[in-house]
Amino acid sequence: MILSRSRLSRKTAPAPAAGDGPAVVPRHVAIIMDGNGRWAKARHLPRVAGHRAGAEAVRRTLRASAKLGIECVTLYAFSSENWKRPEEEIADLTGLMKQFIRSELDEIHASNIRLRIIGDHRAFEPEAAAMVDEAVARTAGNTGSTLVVALNYGSQDELARAMRKLGERIQAGTLDPEAISPDLIAAELDTADLPPLDLLIRTSGEVRLSNFLLWQAAYAELFFTDTLWPDFDEACLAAAVDVYARRERRYGGR
Ligand code: IPE
Ligand code: IPE
Ligand code: MG
Repeated sequence: MILSRSRLSRKTAPAPAAGDGPAVVPRHVAIIMDGNGRWAKARHLPRVAGHRAGAEAVRRTLRASAKLGIECVTLYAFSSENWKRPEEEIADLTGLMKQFIRSELDEIHASNIRLRIIGDHRAFEPEAAAMVDEAVARTAGNTGSTLVVALNYGSQDELARAMRKLGERIQAGTLDPEAISPDLIAAELDTADLPPLDLLIRTSGEVRLSNFLLWQAAYAELFFTDTLWPDFDEACLAAAVDVYARRERRYGGR
């Protein structure tokens, strides 16, 4: 379900016409990649087949976002609540993550993309966690776009960790509680040095954030589509970016 412009924006800006200058490309796009299980179920396949097809959609999406000139893409790959899933599914997802690093890291690195993790990937089995660490270290000096993968990420957990750090500083006497501001909190989040979130996409028809980037989404534009994640492609991303370009962002002003 693509919510129509008229339902979502209070005012509709005209589409940028050719010659009007460059279309508005969001700097930072985040995606809740949902619907792998339903995609598999519709084909009478095991859930893992849906996750495998989902990994293909990640490849396509990264290439498409590079083409569009998006500076930062954040992908919700595994939430802090996904540990509730059966062990077998968690093992399948971990295996696919390792396979993805093995098959894609060379291309990611060659494309000058910096890999970043939000959440705590150390909760995954040691070999997988180490592969993630190596991938982050190998691409750390890259200066092109940024790929952020949310692994064992939950926004409430991220905020709790940030509050704990501020609490420790208060306890140590190095922070005055009066000095706590939105900027100070933002600086303690996993996303501290990333560009502000512009566009948040969720696939599969669910209209909720599922504990993803709650703080960061304060003024992000939201885009919900019925497309299941394994079917997401360049045209879907372009459509979302096109809708974004027509939105009027007000940040509470007028
Ligand atoms: C998203 O697909 C992948 C992860 C959450 C890891 P789902 O596995 O949630 O698929 P549905 O929502 O059951 O269709
Ligand atoms: C959100 O999808 C998490 C990821 C896409 C990694 P879920 O499928 O876990 O979310 P709920 O359970 O439908 O809210
Ligand atoms: Mg789901």
